[in-house]
Amino acid sequence: MADIINLLPDNIANQIAAGEVIQRPASAVKELLENAVDAGATEIQLIIRDAGKELVQVIDNGSGMSDTDARMCFERHATSKIRSIDDLFQIRTMGFRGEALASIAAVSQVELKSRRAEDELGTFIEIDNSVIRRQEPCQAPWAPALP
Ligand SMILES: Nc1ncnc2c1ncn2[C@@H]1O[C@H](COP(=O)(O)OP(=O)(O)O)[C@@H](O)[C@H]1O
Ligand SMILES: [Mg+2]
Repeated sequence: MADIINLLPDNIANQIAAGEVIQRPASAVKELLENAVDAGATEIQLIIRDAGKELVQVIDNGSGMSDTDARMCFERHATSKIRSIDDLFQIRTMGFRGEALASIAAVSQVELKSRRAEDELGTFIEIDNSVIRRQEPCQAPWAPALP
């Protein structure tokens, strides 16, 4: 009988793995809010359209990211929260696996705007099914919370 096992291509394997982390829009909301808290945000806005199927938008006043980090954060296993196995025993953040943003990017269209306080310009990134379509400098003022 012929052999029947084949290796899945990376893009399919990634989408299956992403489904473990992001089962529904609520999972994306949880991950993005946790990231905002981990980034030290004191104000967070959450905007949802059609129960998150059309839009999940999180705006925070946390640390922001450099342009390199803004691109890097969508790679699988990319995290600023741990470096070594020992760090696992003193986790002080809500996330640490570096899987959330990569998973969200694998199953949705993503736009990221981020700026660190010390930078004059921020970075805008557009991703469609894990493929970076656009990255460019942008204005990124902190939008104050709605009254
Ligand atoms: N809202 C944010 N503000 C600043 N940095 C962020 C934000 N969200 C994500 N990041 C950065 O992107 C990295 C990857 O995020 P994520 O995929 O959720 O993995 P994890 O939270 O497990 O590290 C984080 O470690 C952090 O450095
Ligand atoms: Mg996270």
